[in-house]
Amino acid sequence: MNRRQPVAWTLTIAGLVGLLLAAAPPPELGRSGLVASDHRLASEAGAEILAAGGNAVDAAVATALAAGVVQPAGSGLGGGGFAVVVTPEGEGSVLDFREVAPAAATRDMFVEAEAEDASRKGGLAVAVPAEGPGLAELHRRYGRLGLQRVTRPAWKLAHRGFAVGPHLARSFSRAGDHAGPLASALFGLSEAPRQGQEVKRANLALTLQRFAATGGEDLRSGMGAKEIVAAVVEAGGILAAEDLAEIAPVDREPLVGSYRGWTVITMPPPSSGGAVILQALGVLEGFELSAYPHNSAELLHLYAETWQHAFADRARHMGDPDRVSVPLDQMLAPERIAEIQRQILPSRTFDPDHYGTAIDPGTDAGTQHISVLDGEGLSVALTTTINTSFGSGVVGGRSGVLLNNEMDDFVARPGVPNAYGLVGSEANAVAPGAKPLSSMSPTVLISPDATQRIVVGASGGPFIITSTLQVITGIIDHGLDPSEAVAAPRVHHQWAPGLLFVDVGLTEDTRASLRARGHALKELDMFSSVQVIHQLGPGEMLGASDPRKGGWPAGVLAD
Ligand code: DON
Repeated sequence: MNRRQPVAWTLTIAGLVGLLLAAAPPPELGRSGLVASDHRLASEAGAEILAAGGNAVDAAVATALAAGVVQPAGSGLGGGGFAVVVTPEGEGSVLDFREVAPAAATRDMFVEAEAEDASRKGGLAVAVPAEGPGLAELHRRYGRLGLQRVTRPAWKLAHRGFAVGPHLARSFSRAGDHAGPLASALFGLSEAPRQGQEVKRANLALTLQRFAATGGEDLRSGMGAKEIVAAVVEAGGILAAEDLAEIAPVDREPLVGSYRGWTVITMPPPSSGGAVILQALGVLEGFELSAYPHNSAELLHLYAETWQHAFADRARHMGDPDRVSVPLDQMLAPERIAEIQRQILPSRTFDPDHYGTAIDPGTDAGTQHISVLDGEGLSVALTTTINTSFGSGVVGGRSGVLLNNEMDDFVARPGVPNAYGLVGSEANAVAPGAKPLSSMSPTVLISPDATQRIVVGASGGPFIITSTLQVITGIIDHGLDPSEAVAAPRVHHQWAPGLLFVDVGLTEDTRASLRARGHALKELDMFSSVQVIHQLGPGEMLGASDPRKGGWPAGVLAD
C-alpha cells in the first residue's frame, strides 16, 4: 500500500478580490485524496484523517467539525447542512440534516415579534440545530474510522487552541455590539480577538468529546442538548428538549440531471440550489457558451437572464417538500426550459421594477462548503450553515455551541425579504417542524465517459447557486482549472431585487456593455466562497479553495 503523506499548499492566491486569477496552475496530486474547505486548518484536519486511512466521508466530517471550531462565524454544531455522497461507481445519495422550526413555532411569530430582527438575532431566530446528529449519521453510514478518531483533529484545535484567521477576525469586526459577548461566550475573552491571536474553545472541546463518545446523541438528549435549550429559552426562544430529541437526519433522493453529457448529482428540496442550478444549466445548454469569451458581457448577460427566471420560479414554488408540493417536474420540464430560452434577448434585460423590491443582500456569512474526493473515488460535497454571520448570536451555555438563525430562511414576514434579499411564497412559511428553504447546493458531476468528476459547492446565501454554476461552466465550457474557475470575477442575479451584482474584477467595458442591456449593476467586495475539486482522470485531482475567504485545500500524496 502507498504510504500517505499529508501535504498542503496554496492552490490559489489568497487575498485581494480583484486580483483574482491565480498566477500559476495548481500542482497535480496523487491518488490518495484531496480536501478543499474554506479554512486551512479545517482542510488539514480532513487530510490528517485521509492520511490515517479514512475515506472521503471520514475526512468531510473531520473537516466540518474542525471548521466549526476555527470558523465559528460560519459553521458549527449549532447549525445544519446537506451532504451529497457519490460512490466510486457513481451511485449518489443525499443526507439532509437541515434544521427545522421548533414545535412551538407559528406562521406569524415574526410578524407578532416585538423586535424587528427577531428572525435574525436572539432566541426566536434559532431553528432546531441538527448538525451534530447529521454529521454523526453521515459518519455512521459511510465512515471507515471510528468517530473518536475522526473528531480528534477538531478536538485538538478546540483544546490546544488555534490562531484566529483573517475571515474570523473580519467577522468579529463586523459583529458590532455582539462581538464582545460572543468573544466571551466562545473563547472566554473580554474583547474580540485579533487576527493571529491564539484562542481556545475549552467548552466546545468537552462537547466534541461527548459528541464522539455518544455518536452525536449528546446534542439530542445529553448535557450539550440541555445547555443549548436553557440558553435559547433564556434568550427568549421557544426551543424545547423534545425538539432536539426528535431531530432525525432525512435520506433524500438526489436530484439528477445532465449538462453537456455530464451527469449532475445535486441537492433536492428543501434546498432550492439543485433545482435552480439544473434549470439554469438546462437553459444554458441551449447556447454555445464556449463561443462567448469567458466573462464577456454577452455571457454574463445570458447568466443574469437565466437566473432571473430560475429565481422567480424558486420564489413562486419552493419550500419544504414534506409540507408543500414542490413542482420540480414543472420547473425542470423541457417545455419550461425552452420557454425561458425563447424569452432571453441578447440585447436587453427587462425592467427591474417588474421583478421586485430593492434590498441589499448580505455578504458571505454563516456557511461553509467542503469538497472531498478520496483515492478510491468516493466523493463528498458537504455544505453546512448557521445562516448569517455568528447565527443567532446565542451560545448554548457550557456546550460552547453557537446557534443558528435559520428561522430567517423562512418567509418570516410576508412580503419582507430575508437577510439575503430573498422573497418567497406561502410555500416557505413558518410552520412547526418545517424546514426553511435553503440555497445550499452541494453537487457532484460525472463526465460523459465517467473518467472525470467535479465536486463543488459554496457558501454565500443565494450567491451559492450562481457561484457554483459559474465554476461548473468555467470548468466544463471554458476549460478553466479549479483555481482559475473559483478565482475569476463572478456576477449574480436573483430576480428580486432587480440588480446584477458584479465582482470588482470585471472590466469597465464589460460593465458598460451590461448596462447598455439595461442591467442595474451593484458592486460587491465579497459574496460567496466556492470549494471545488476536479478529478481529471485516475490519479489526477486538482482542487481549489476560494481566495475570497482565504480558504486553502490540503491533500494526501501517494508516493
Ligand atoms: O441555507 C441557506 O440558504 C442559507 N442559510 C445559507 C446562508 C449562507 O450561505 C451564508 N453565507 N455564507
